[in-house]
This record gives sequence, C-alpha cells and structure tokens, in this order.
Amino acid sequence: MSESAAQTILLSDYTPFGWRIEKVELTFTLSPKATRVTSRLRFVPNPDAPKQVFFLHGEQLSLIRAAIDGQTVSPEITDTGLTCAVPDGPFTWESEVEIAPAENTALEGLYMSNGMYCTQCEAEGFRKITYYPDRPDVMAPFSVRVDSDLPVLLSNGNPAANGAGWAEWHDPWPKPAYLFALVAGDLVAKTGAFTTASGKKVTLNIWVRPGDQDKCDYALDALERSMKWDEDVYGREYDLDVFNIVAVDDFNMGAMENKGLNIFNSKYVLASPETATDDDFARIEAIIAHEYFHNWTGNRITCRDWFQLCLKEGLTVFRDQQFSGDMRSHPVKRIEDVLMLRARQFREDNGPLAHPVRPESYVEINNFYTATVYEKGAEVIGMLKRLVGDDGYARALDLYFQRHDGDAATIEDWLKVFEDATGRDLSQFKRWYAQPGTPRLSFTDNFNNGRYEINFKQENQNRKSFPTKQPQVIPIALGLLNPNGDEVLPTTVLEMTEATQSFAFDGLAARPIPSILRGFSAPVILDHDASADQRAFLLAHDTDPFNRWEAGRALSKDVLVRMVLRGESPDPAYLEGLAEVLRDNALDPAYRALVLRLPSEDDIAQALADQGHVPDPLAIYRAAQTLRHAIAAHLKDRLELLYADLLCPGPYSPEATDAGRRSLRLTALGLLSRLDGGARAAAHYAAADNMTDQQGALTALLAIGAGDAQVAAFYDQWQDDRLVMDKWFMLQAGLTPPDRAVRTVTALTQHPDFDWKNPNRFRSVIGAFSGNAAGFHDPSGAGYDLVADWLMKMDAVNPQTAARMSTAFETWRRYDADRQGQICEALDRIRARPGLSRDMGEMVGRMRNG
Ligand code: BES
Ligand code: ZN
Repeated sequence: MSESAAQTILLSDYTPFGWRIEKVELTFTLSPKATRVTSRLRFVPNPDAPKQVFFLHGEQLSLIRAAIDGQTVSPEITDTGLTCAVPDGPFTWESEVEIAPAENTALEGLYMSNGMYCTQCEAEGFRKITYYPDRPDVMAPFSVRVDSDLPVLLSNGNPAANGAGWAEWHDPWPKPAYLFALVAGDLVAKTGAFTTASGKKVTLNIWVRPGDQDKCDYALDALERSMKWDEDVYGREYDLDVFNIVAVDDFNMGAMENKGLNIFNSKYVLASPETATDDDFARIEAIIAHEYFHNWTGNRITCRDWFQLCLKEGLTVFRDQQFSGDMRSHPVKRIEDVLMLRARQFREDNGPLAHPVRPESYVEINNFYTATVYEKGAEVIGMLKRLVGDDGYARALDLYFQRHDGDAATIEDWLKVFEDATGRDLSQFKRWYAQPGTPRLSFTDNFNNGRYEINFKQENQNRKSFPTKQPQVIPIALGLLNPNGDEVLPTTVLEMTEATQSFAFDGLAARPIPSILRGFSAPVILDHDASADQRAFLLAHDTDPFNRWEAGRALSKDVLVRMVLRGESPDPAYLEGLAEVLRDNALDPAYRALVLRLPSEDDIAQALADQGHVPDPLAIYRAAQTLRHAIAAHLKDRLELLYADLLCPGPYSPEATDAGRRSLRLTALGLLSRLDGGARAAAHYAAADNMTDQQGALTALLAIGAGDAQVAAFYDQWQDDRLVMDKWFMLQAGLTPPDRAVRTVTALTQHPDFDWKNPNRFRSVIGAFSGNAAGFHDPSGAGYDLVADWLMKMDAVNPQTAARMSTAFETWRRYDADRQGQICEALDRIRARPGLSRDMGEMVGRMRNG
C-alpha cells in the first residue's frame, strides 16, 4: 500500500465495538499452502456501543463460505475486511477461509519456520488468520481444534482432548485475538512443574526442535523463578494447568506473551555455556520473566486500544527490571537500563521519530513498539513509585488487579487507581504520557550561613511539530556530601512541579557537594558543567552507586569531547579516578566493568551535537581508540593483576557473581590488547571453554583490527549452529574498523550463510553494521546505500523487520551537509520503492519530514 493511501488512526476516534463475543470456536486443518480455518463466533449486541455496520477485519484471506445462524450469507469484501447485514439480536457467525502459511514471509499471522507452524498475532496479525473484530477490547473465551499429522499440536489454555492427528484446547480466560496462538511441529519438551501458592499444580513445558532439548535448563529455571517472584512480590498466581513456551528460529521480535502459550525467538530460550554468553543468559532470564509477567499485566488486564500499549509494556518492562535487579544486582541493573534508555529512547526523543509514551496517532501500530513506549513507559512507572512510596505503589497495584481484572483498560484507569489508593492528584503527572521530548534539568546553587540552596530549572525543548510543553513533575533524588566525603543529607526526593523551583537545606557546616538525580530518579538530561575535580570527587566518594558511576561517565564524556574538538590528551584526574575504582576490591566486578566502559560513539556524537558541533564519526572513533590506549597504558599493572585474579573457580555458572568477574576480566583483556597487539587475547581465545570467553576474546581482537585466524576458526567450529553463527556475523559487522567496514559487510552479505530472510541473521549483519558508527557513516555514503538497499529488499518480504531497522537513519540531522544529503537520498530511494509497505512508508515519511 502506498503511504498516501494509508490511513492515520487517532486515539480520539475510539468507539467501542458494536457486539460482544460470548464464545469463539476455531478449527484449523493445517497444510502449507492451503490451510483451512473455520470459525464459529457467538455475537451479542453491545449495549454500551453506538449502532454501527457489522465489520470484521480480514486480510489476505480467501473466503470459502460464510453463514449467519446457519444461513449462507454473501458479505461485501475489501482489502481490510468484510461487512455484512446481521440480525438485530444475538447471532452465530460462521466462516471458512483458506490461507497459505508457507508463503507468509512477513512472519505475522500463521506462518512456517523450519517445517513448523506457528503464529504471531500481536498487534494485528489475527486478521490474517480469519475474519474477526481484531481489536484488543473484544475479549472472548476460545476453543480451538487443530488437525494435522505433526506430532505436537498446541494452542492457548488447557488441553481439552486429543487423538491421532488432532488436538483440542480450551482457554477459559476471555482474551483479545492478539493473544491467540497455535503451534504444530515435530517438537520435544523440556518439562518442569510448579505449585502455586494456593496449591494448584502447573505443568511447564519448553518446546524446541529435537536436538535442542539440552539447551532449555536455564529458561525453565528462569520461568520457575519468575512464577515464584510474581507471587511473592505482586501476589499474582498463574491461572491455567499448563504453561507452554515454544522456541522458533524465525521471529520478528524477542518473544510473545500469548495466553498459556508463549512463543519465543529461539535466541531467547536456547542456551548452553558453550553457545551462549553471560549477557545471553541474562537476557533469557529477563525475557522469560517479561512474557510470564504479562499473564497479569497484559492478559488478565489488557489494553483498550493500541494507544494504551504502554499500559502493558511499560508496566511489564518495569516489572522485569525489578525482577532482574532482585535476581542479580540492583545498581548494575539500573546502570544497564539507563545506558539502554539513553542510547535508544533519548536518541528517539531527540529526533524526528519522537512521540509521547501514549501516542495520539499512528499509521502502522507495529512502528510504535518503541523505546519510548517500552523504556520511557517503564521510567514513568518508576517515577510514580518514587512519588507515592513503596506502600502506596503496592496498594495501587492491588487495586489495579482487583478493579480491572478482565478489563481492556486505559492509562486513565491506571492513574485513577494511584489517585484512589494514595489520595494524590496525578493530573500534572499525566503530562509524562502526553508530552514527547526529554526534559532538560539545570541548576544553580549557593551557600550562606549554613544554608544550602539549590534552584532547578526544567525545559522541554519545543520541536517545531509539537505544542508548547508544560512543566512536568520531576522527582529529584538528592544527596549532599561534605568536602571530606561524608554524607550530610541522605537521599531525599524533591518533587519539582514548576518550571523553576528552589529547595533549601539548613544547618550545614560547610558548602556541600550535591549528588543530583540519584538512581536516575527521572528520565531527564541533567545539564551540569561540573569541573573535572568535582566529578572526580563524586566518582571517589558518592554513596549512591548510580551517581558514582554517572560521575565517571560524565568525566569520560567530557574527556572524549575535548579530545575530538581540541585534540587534547586525556585528563589525568579521570585516569586516576578510574584507577581508584579498579583498586577498590570491595566494589562488585560487574560494577567496575561498567565504570571502565566508555560512552558509545553515538553518545559522543549526540553530546557534540548538543553543544552545537557537527559530529565527525571518524574523529570520534579515533578519539575513542586513543583514549582506550591511554587508559590501558595508565592502568596496565592494575589491569594485569585483575586479569590474573579474576579467573572463576569451578565449572561455568551463568550467575551474576561469576558473570561479573568475567565481565571485568574481559574488559581488562580488551584494554590490554591495545598494548600487546592481541597476543593475550589470542591465547584467551585458544583457551576459552565457554562462549562468553570465546566471544570476549574475539571482540578484543576485532576491536584492534586483528583476529582473522580466530574468525576463520570460529566459523569452522560453529557453522552448523544458527544462533552462534549470528554472533559470527554480528561481531564482524559491528566491530570491523572503519577503513574496511563497508567492504567486509558487503562480503558478509554475499556469504552463503547470510540467510537474510531470517530476522536474527539480518539484524546480525545489517543491524550490527548500522551500530558501527564510523563504518556506517563512511564519508563516501556507501554505508547508507548498503543499508538502504537491504532495507528495501527486506521490506518486500518482511515489512515489520525492515521498518524497525530503518531507525538507523533517525539521527540524520546531526551530521554535515554531505552526509545529510546522502542520507536523504537513501531515504528517498527507499520511499520510491514500488510496493513500499505501509510500515516503511510511515517510518521514512516521519524521518524525512520530522
Ligand atoms: N508483546 C511483545 C511482543 C510483540 C511486540 C509482539 C510487537 C508484536 C509486536 C512482548 O511482550 C515484548 O515486549 N517483547 C520484547 C522483549 C521484552 C523483554 C521487552 C521483544 O520482543 O523485544
Ligand atoms: Zn511485552
């Protein structure tokens, strides 16, 4: 569909559907090119809805027959659905359609992956399976029958009956169509069991392809821990007899929370020490938890419409972050989450794709599963919790589950439970859901007669396309330190509601050093030109682990910016600060590794743009290389000691303690490789007995432009393992130095194993390359052309995956006129593709015009 023909959907246009559905009965007769789907739906008029024409969504379906109360009818069919005359009262609708899952390359609806049938219905995929009111506020219990010779036949809910070549499933919990799922294949299960707090026995199955069953232990363990945690922390129990998870190789997203039948990208299920890194294990744990937690926040309580997406996603991300913090380390998790938020959400909020946490319009909803909805959506909940306190939050959540169980709810409903449970007025807070853009917070302070005063100012810059922004409620967690390093004011939450606001603290003996926005208490940019000495002081003394890390981060950003702009050499205060943190063996190794990690080249480009400069990606790359060399040279002895000391005793364990040791050890290895030409990394590679060490060593080598032999050896060792081969592609595309990045990536796209229709493989090459800033922004424009060509090719087969990756271009306005011209040309070329998808049309249009 062309972009101009595509319709814009508005939040303000919401109208309830004219009918309720009491019962859904579906039968699937599976066949790759001719699957038959029959549906029987019991409709009753919805007394709360205005009178309307009977419309069912349906796309790419061949209608075989349709009947109402047993009488054949001839509905009027369009590209998007059908309309039909219907009786005034209740009636039974029946239809039979034919679809071709083997030809479904978009991986939305019913499709095939390695001979297995599977579905992906969120957000609007069910309409590619049968005619239905495919909107989240229409909820119904489903009964499903699957006919197929394949040995394992699954759908939502509880198993009802089965025999040779068929199975029936019944899901008693009313659900919207986007939570429907069906799987059929030659699968084996890793099985577990869980007894809920009220004594219900639940069978847990993780279904995978034969041969993969020994890679499910960690996912199963994470599932059991998630179930227990949701009972302990939120009082939420599981509500069916079985919980099934299926791993599929071809999947657009990470995973999907279909009721009782979660479907996962195999990358987020399968893990063994030999094939998965520590980060992979941590992500598996987080995503298993996330999808499980949706059973309450998403499924039992769903969204009224897709504008309310953050209601389930922001909340569920917030919950999975809490869970990971509890399982591992809260400070480390918080730093990782903020790194991600800044890299993805601040970047989005600062460019042409900025939108509110709750958008007010969209063309293609798949384009709104964004960092803003997810990550800023989670931050907004974190702020709410800080403002109402832990008890208030717990009361509000209890009320939410009690009041809205079974509902398709809104952000208004969500805020109302907080108001009712705590007595607070949240009308101003609601601006966080409505106003796009990242507020900037600045301050001045003074000290007089024992009184310290701090004056804050907030600004949310007005991008041309948005109305003037109103001040937002900003919880500012503040601590004050004495010049000797003692804390004189423990963390206190200031509630800023005005554009400018002052706070005072009395009875202080000396002018304190403020530690502002502790724990990153609000998703804002703190504009603060502290001196290097002040930052070094906080890096050494702040009692808040987040702000201690943040001080080091700000220092390294300043250092890099000065190196890029003025060719200065790195500040000794910074190098000494790092040395001190490294020496402090009381600090968690994972935390120390984060302190050593430099800001990304994209962060530096944004920092330069914020200061009114035009970033040169190559200059940034060179400065980062120089700084890494300087850090390595300055800290050599310490790094060697750490490298020697941090070996993990005993067999590999993916748990946080060992993972943290490996992380710091590999960070040390990466730095030391800058001094020894990679000798140590080559030895480390040769000795590695787990993927974390193997990948870490290869990363260290590639980052210094070495590693050819290891790249070849890695290929020989892992060519038959799809998930490990993704890493092989990703590391090369992401880390090859700029002078040959385009050439190397072009060659990778010609490699026989570049199975580009697989979204994981495509992202491993094209996605990783667009994150290789200096390579992607090659002055010739060849990087842009390469990405644009592949996005066009992918758009023709899988629009959702292509459109999501087009955000590689969202920062184009930062760059010089030549690069801007090249990027616009690439975007215009994409836009002109005959048959351009609605997904890509919307993305390119917004980027070009925003
Ligand atoms: N509901 C989503 C999956 C989804 C997103 C389906 C967009 C269709 C379109 C799921 O709960 C989810 O959010 N998955 C994330 C991972 C999660 C840990 C944030 C994903 O797939 O990236
Ligand atoms: Zn989710």
